[in-house]
Amino acid sequence: MNVIRTFEDYHKQYKKSVEHPENFWSEIASSFYWRKKWDKVLEWDFHKPEVKWFIGGKLNITENCLDRHLIKRANQTAIIWEPNNPNDDAKHITYQQLYDEVCKTANMLKANGVKKGDRVCIYLPMIPELAYAILACARIGAVHSVVFAGFSAKSMTDRITDAGCKIVITSDGAYRGDKTINLKGIVDQALEHCPDVTRVIVKEHVHTSAPMKAERDVWWHDEIKKVDSNCVAEEMDSEDMLFILYTSGSTGKPKGMVHTCGGYMVNINYTFQTAFQYHDGQIYWCTADIGWVTGHSYILYGPLSAGATTVMFEGVPSWPDWGRFWQAIERHKVNIFYTAPTAIRSLQQAPISFVEKYDLSSLKVLGSVGEPINEEAWHWYNKNIGKGKCPIVDTWWQTETGGFMISPIAHVTPLKPAHATLPLPGVQPAVMNESGLEIEGNNIEGRLTIKYPWPSMARTIYGDHQRFKETYFSSFPGKYFTGDGCKRDEDGYYRITGRVDDIIIVSGHNLGTAEIESAIDEHSSVCETAVVGFPHDIKGQGIYAFVICYEKPAEEEKLRAEIKETVSKIIGPIAKPDKIQFVSGLPKTRSGKIMRRILRKVAEGDTNNLGDVTTLLDPGVVEEIKAGAL
Ligand code: WT7
Repeated sequence: MNVIRTFEDYHKQYKKSVEHPENFWSEIASSFYWRKKWDKVLEWDFHKPEVKWFIGGKLNITENCLDRHLIKRANQTAIIWEPNNPNDDAKHITYQQLYDEVCKTANMLKANGVKKGDRVCIYLPMIPELAYAILACARIGAVHSVVFAGFSAKSMTDRITDAGCKIVITSDGAYRGDKTINLKGIVDQALEHCPDVTRVIVKEHVHTSAPMKAERDVWWHDEIKKVDSNCVAEEMDSEDMLFILYTSGSTGKPKGMVHTCGGYMVNINYTFQTAFQYHDGQIYWCTADIGWVTGHSYILYGPLSAGATTVMFEGVPSWPDWGRFWQAIERHKVNIFYTAPTAIRSLQQAPISFVEKYDLSSLKVLGSVGEPINEEAWHWYNKNIGKGKCPIVDTWWQTETGGFMISPIAHVTPLKPAHATLPLPGVQPAVMNESGLEIEGNNIEGRLTIKYPWPSMARTIYGDHQRFKETYFSSFPGKYFTGDGCKRDEDGYYRITGRVDDIIIVSGHNLGTAEIESAIDEHSSVCETAVVGFPHDIKGQGIYAFVICYEKPAEEEKLRAEIKETVSKIIGPIAKPDKIQFVSGLPKTRSGKIMRRILRKVAEGDTNNLGDVTTLLDPGVVEEIKAGAL
């Protein structure tokens, strides 16, 4: 009914979705299993802001991802787990097995005191238990809060405290290429500051005899033995919380984005099937970590609700060598491959023989996500991986949007390199100028907002609705502000130009400058810091820090290493600055606001073009910064 197979279908569906959004979405929602149908499709007010979809509907998302597939697909593989080490065996987990494991895990959580509405922190590597734990929470109506297993103890403490979690699920460790990471040690450190956490369930994975704290810590393998696989799914309201996922803010602490059950399920399933043109029986692989929204929506909930076979990869693209992705594609005959520009750029640097060694002829569709894909990477991906016959689906979206917003539809939308192309049905973008007016027509550039609700949008920031309103609904009252800038070309195609706020996208991961600055400031020699992004060949953006110390550093290199270590401990290795320039002052306006525009120019190496500096308190500081640029 809503299937799109031609560009004409797209235009028809898009028109319908704008003219009759409620009919459009309720037709899509009808294909799911609801315990009770909704009474009303939508209520919304972007000023409050308040958005509710499928009001009064009752469901459980796991019945849609698992139970309803058992009739036809019990023996079909749901998850192919590809381990870190290519010499170890992959696991093929069927829908029946996944169902059993999820139910057992759900019973294990219940036996450990977890109830509907409780928040559960999950800190696991990319192993099947991560999928079981997430779906188990959803099955019993507990709210999962997954913390990416690359985050530091401090980040975990903050997230556990903010969400009020009483239980953590983790493993003794994680493999990453040739490294083993002591996850349990990080959890122990984090929990020193979380007195409310009374239970830690530990999955044994790397076998490093992790120390267990009496009363608090239990082994997964002991607990799971005590339960069976009968677990009736909890009946959830459409608007009940499904999960919290933290994303960086431009100021202050990370924001716990809240996603709810009904709308999220409907939208993620629809966008997965539509954008990738997923066909029954295909093998799909998204290389993201489940710790990011990409993994939540497009490794687990989207593919599983569609009855697809989804690959979960534990390792890294560079180990044992740069052929790891291509080897896995050949091995599992992957049809749809979805990765990030940063990965493409690093793979592009390796000798092409790593690609040529493998048979990639199973591939039908390629995807990209996380940041604007540059044209060079687009062409390399298209030519060498897609062999010129696989469309590249460049999906623009955000943790906050839950699912794809602007994206080509594979084999349907005519492509333009580096363009996210057109809004998917149901998505109504509006491009705004700086005075807050919508810019009509094409061949324009401005700030990207969305003017009508879509079902998978975040409903609030956990515990801070006021901040939700200020961050997303105040810059352009009545519209959702994305934080991105964009161009709309003569064909109405969108090209995302990047963040216009103080967010840096490093290797496709969203980091707030304020968060990195306050981590650097933790170093005892540091007095004040300003951080900006700069173009980086592999990561997309790198982190450039301008640091004022109390005293002129005697050994700059040593201090740089210490500062990096400090950031790594507080946030995680991903936030380590690439460049640290020691300065005696920062360019501040008379009102004390740092003029980041100037620092960005310096970081980009474009120092001849700094623009007006007359409003600065001390224009002299700019000369010093220019002279010392790295
Ligand atoms: C920001 C959201 C969406 C999951 C991964 C990141 C940038 C994301 C694209 C794309 C251009 C993109 C935007 C966005 N971004 N995808 N295809 N083209 N930019 O999620 O951490 O919430 O970051 O990533 O700047 O606002 P996130």
